Amino acid sequence: MQREHWATRAGFVLAAVGSAIGLGNIWRFGYLVYKNGGGAFLIPYFVALFIAGISLMILEFALGHRFRASAPQALRAINKKFEWIGWWAVVGGMIITMYYSVVIAWALVYFTKAFTLAWGAETKAYYFGQILQLTDSPWNFGGFAVEVLVATAVVWALNWFIDFRGVRKGIEKANMVLMPLLWILAIILVVRALTLPGAIEGIEWYLKPDFSKLADYNIWLSAFGQIFFTLSLGMGIMIAYASYLPEKSDIANNAFIVALANCAFSFLIGFAIFGTLGYMAYATGSEIGDVVAQSIGLAFVVFPQALNMLPALKVFTAVVFFLALVVAGLSSSISLVEAVVAAVMDRFGIERRKAVNLVVGIGFLGSLLYTTKAGLYWLDIVDHFVNYYGLVLVGLLEVIAVAWFFDLGKIREHINAVSEIKVGSWWNFAVKFAVPAILLVLLGFDIAGN
Ligand code: PFF
Ligand code: NA
Repeated sequence: MQREHWATRAGFVLAAVGSAIGLGNIWRFGYLVYKNGGGAFLIPYFVALFIAGISLMILEFALGHRFRASAPQALRAINKKFEWIGWWAVVGGMIITMYYSVVIAWALVYFTKAFTLAWGAETKAYYFGQILQLTDSPWNFGGFAVEVLVATAVVWALNWFIDFRGVRKGIEKANMVLMPLLWILAIILVVRALTLPGAIEGIEWYLKPDFSKLADYNIWLSAFGQIFFTLSLGMGIMIAYASYLPEKSDIANNAFIVALANCAFSFLIGFAIFGTLGYMAYATGSEIGDVVAQSIGLAFVVFPQALNMLPALKVFTAVVFFLALVVAGLSSSISLVEAVVAAVMDRFGIERRKAVNLVVGIGFLGSLLYTTKAGLYWLDIVDHFVNYYGLVLVGLLEVIAVAWFFDLGKIREHINAVSEIKVGSWWNFAVKFAVPAILLVLLGFDIAGN
């Protein structure tokens, strides 16, 4: 069977950007910046981006492109003993997608509520009580939160529908629509926010650097963890997407474009979030620090509250915001479904449709845990765990496998043969020494901290 290919370079880039830009860019990034010293956080963030993020993106693109295979088989091509690293990546990614799809489902539920601002004045009670119907402990499941369950089924149906149609007709086409739409929505939100009174104070809060925080190693850990998650690394996604590239495809340039577009989006949407929060502080006469809640609460508790208070365009802004979340989330979840589907197809030689049915079926079943009334507890537990022992650990194993058990120079030659920007020896150093050292420290601290 002939391997599928992207129809255009733009199609590939948009699909990879679609995977990278996701829910994480909207609620996670803003939250991390605010918590970790405002503008000062951008320093560890960009250090992580350039040392680990871009190096690993280049590596994952190169693996997929060179071996024309998804993560398990690409790693197997390096050494038979490494196939399991690829499976670890896709299984970790699959576990993430199981809860990630449920967060998209919350956004979908809120999207339907946005037309009437149905959350009312008590947004916290509404989110935890009405929507999640959260119980008092992880072991008290209390049945399903029905609206969330239905929305989760819809999200998986959309994943199924897009992936079923294949690389060109499904993923590429979907992203050609979803990505431009997402940037437009984001720009609308930024403009809306910046025209509000108090917005400037919010932005100041967002970016005012507090350099004293840089002494805290936790900030550096957060930055590296976020870079993996935000760039969709360590899940086999970028390997799978790159495996559909035609032979003559730029690797280095595409990696820079994807990574920078992702971070630009985060930075941009931060203005919308903090501008709106600044307005809220202004309208209620409170401190911005008091209106910013915990990470997920930012999107589903604080933001609805801010929307309630807007002087004009409430419903419009609310609809745009939650639609943006859904669009950002979907273009990411389909990428993960594809990473697993590609792995299953490559390994078992079954056709796409069967693989998609299988993966979506398992994914939906796994999501059910998070649609119970104890779902949020499990989401928090699994999220932390899988980030470090999934993505970060896989990233570490990938660089070790390639840099220490394979000819890194050969891979670089392969990259430079097709790339416009030539990758220098800095990359060898990053992949062979810097990235493994940093990731080891990161994992070490995480284990010690638990
Ligand atoms: N890069 C995505 C984000 O920042 O939101 C994270 C992601 C999660 C991508 C799950 C893909 C995925 F299946
Ligand atoms: Na992202």
